[in-house]
Amino acid sequence: MAVQSNAIDVSYGYPDYNPPQHMLDALREVTANHTSWRLHQYSHPRGEARLRRAIAKLNAPLMRRHIDADREILVTLGAIQSLDFAARAFVNAGDEVVLFSPRFMYYEPIIRLVGGVPIHIPLKTLNGQKPRQSNDLSFDRKQLEAAFNNRTKMIWLNNPNNPSGKVFTEEELLFIGQLCERYDVIVMADEVGQYYHFEGQPHITFASLPGMWKRTITVMSGGKTFSSTGWRIGWAVGPEELLYGMTVGVMAAVLAVPTPIQTAFAMGLEVEMERLNTNQSYFSRLVRESVAKRDRFIKMFDELGIDVVKPNAGYFIVADFINVVHKIDLSLEKDRRFGLQLSLWLIHQKNLVTLPGKLLYHLDQNSGSEFVLRMCFLKTDDTINQIESVLKSTFGTKS
Ligand SMILES: Cc1ncc(COP(=O)(O)O)c(C=O)c1O
Repeated sequence: MAVQSNAIDVSYGYPDYNPPQHMLDALREVTANHTSWRLHQYSHPRGEARLRRAIAKLNAPLMRRHIDADREILVTLGAIQSLDFAARAFVNAGDEVVLFSPRFMYYEPIIRLVGGVPIHIPLKTLNGQKPRQSNDLSFDRKQLEAAFNNRTKMIWLNNPNNPSGKVFTEEELLFIGQLCERYDVIVMADEVGQYYHFEGQPHITFASLPGMWKRTITVMSGGKTFSSTGWRIGWAVGPEELLYGMTVGVMAAVLAVPTPIQTAFAMGLEVEMERLNTNQSYFSRLVRESVAKRDRFIKMFDELGIDVVKPNAGYFIVADFINVVHKIDLSLEKDRRFGLQLSLWLIHQKNLVTLPGKLLYHLDQNSGSEFVLRMCFLKTDDTINQIESVLKSTFGTKS
């Protein structure tokens, strides 16, 4: 709908600007290459060797171990295919999968499709106060402990958390790790937002914690890493035994991920690795630019009198419009389903596409989320100006 109507779309997590120039150059070079027919044929089902080597090199320091590029990496069509195949490989009907809520909206359908039962643990402040920033959120340890039992097959741990931007502390991760050890649970560590940490804290890869490698599949996204979500490159890193069923999944579904795209991505990653920790690093640029964009959204919402929880990481901002909905005629939107009306009103009346909070919270947590909307802040200044002008002309500024 957003594409057809030329709407401003902040509902999904993608930027409205290009990947870095060296990625575009690499793609051009690959498609212009007529000397190697291999570039245009199936890659190995685990992924193109050049890309696996680059991923292994990038991940070894994060995981504090050598990564075997031939056995411990699987390239998939986006991170989402790794999630899907992890569910298919490990979750049988009736198996329970622990999730923190709010969560990436596709977790639940992926788990339910294979007959799994999601068990939701709310992220919340432990003192009952309203959170001011996403890192004020935590979880009740007793509640998490009570969620584990002999039906628990996996925990899907998204760090930093989409949509809130919460970064799990080492202490929290160690606590989760102990439970996984006790109940022999597999960890699907979705770390696609690992390059979007805004407070200078280093990213802790769950698999790097003592004893966790053997039970962890770490999932990362090439799209998020290089602002290229349409290239559909993602990968899983983990012990060969854990990746085996997922590899069969890739073979059965698509045989292999497109080779030219994998090769261009590998070339881009090689360039980036030369620049790591320098001013030219794209990862440092991502942080600098994302912080500036996040802060513009925060300022805008503050001027509008709309409540937000400052995200300490990630690419989304979650805003609660409850204080300003009385300023519009919501009855113009006839679809009254809980949590959808405001979002549909903004699409139909203002051509602005956001994601309703209803899709992010488990039902039990939904009561306070009727007018909560999620927006991706990875947008150009021009787009942010347009959003600001739409929202200010709709809701005015706070008096
Ligand atoms: C937490 C999380 N996991 C996985 C994905 C999917 O990533 P990809 O585009 O690489 O499939 C996303 C995309 O927004 C995400 O936010």
